[in-house]
Amino acid sequence: MKRPALLLFAAALSMVLAQGVGFELDKIDVSKIPPASKEKVDFARDVYPIFKEHCISCHGPDKQKGKYRTDTKDGAFKAGENGFNILPGHSEKSPMILMIAGLIDEMLMPPPKAEPMTKDEIGILRAWVDQGAVWPDGPIPEFIKKVEFVRDIQPIFEKSCIECHGAAKQSGEFRLDQKDAALKGGKTYGQVIKAGEPAKSTLLIIISGKDEDLPQPEKHKLADKQVELVRRWIEQGAVWP
Ligand code: HEC
Ligand code: HEC
Repeated sequence: MKRPALLLFAAALSMVLAQGVGFELDKIDVSKIPPASKEKVDFARDVYPIFKEHCISCHGPDKQKGKYRTDTKDGAFKAGENGFNILPGHSEKSPMILMIAGLIDEMLMPPPKAEPMTKDEIGILRAWVDQGAVWPDGPIPEFIKKVEFVRDIQPIFEKSCIECHGAAKQSGEFRLDQKDAALKGGKTYGQVIKAGEPAKSTLLIIISGKDEDLPQPEKHKLADKQVELVRRWIEQGAVWP
């Protein structure tokens, strides 16, 4: 090969490598990605909890499968086999989004054996990338927003629970309009909120709609986002001023 041809060949090869050989963007039907959430997303409040729940066990401090991690900014944004995994402003071209939507062959994330993500969660990550993929600098625990009972939790209880667990009516002898009564629990389940211990707080199972013994399960199922708020409220100590 003459020199210019060799150079061209090398340039083409490096482009292929930079773009990745794992998938071809123009063969992907991006209309299959679940729609982006229409709300303005906040990294600490909306996005990081999703990474924490669905990704960090394989892409975090203990394991970095595929040499990728979602617990540090550098780790999440670095280029991998498919080029840059996150292209701010372009969810439809970002390998990470295409992977969670299951559109890259054999690269569904989380992998099939793990708990799948909901369309809403994918929609939040997609909106985050489209809105510029803002990831504030600094260690994560410091910028995780504190859940505030009066602002974040009380309105949920008031809207969805108080009609049957309030002053007028206390189904199961459980009420959510008073701190002491709520933290004590009801007649069958006993204590359902264990401050600092979401894994032992059966309230979370009840409001995820996963307790099939409860009458009217549909009245007990809250939106994923609300369940996550209540989970974090409990994790942060179930503070009820
Ligand atoms: C059960 C483990 C597991 C979980 C959970 C998981 N992954 Fe993965 N991930 C892997 C493995 C294994 C690979 C490497 C696959 C390969 O290269 O064939 C990988 C690769 C990746 C890659 C490609 C890395 C690169 O640059 O080549 C991205 C991006 C990714 N995962 C994102 C995620 C996201 C986002 C989540 C959460 C929504 C997630 N993964 C959850 C196991 C997991
Ligand atoms: C339409 C009425 C209704 C609404 C709304 C409702 N519940 Fe219930 N709840 C019930 C009934 C009925 C029971 C079962 C009572 C029994 O077994 O005697 C119950 C039981 C419970 C129990 C178990 C109490 C025990 O026996 O120890 C908990 C905890 C609970 N609900 C929490 C909630 C929460 C949290 C919400 C709001 C997301 C909510 N409920 C909304 C009717 C309701």
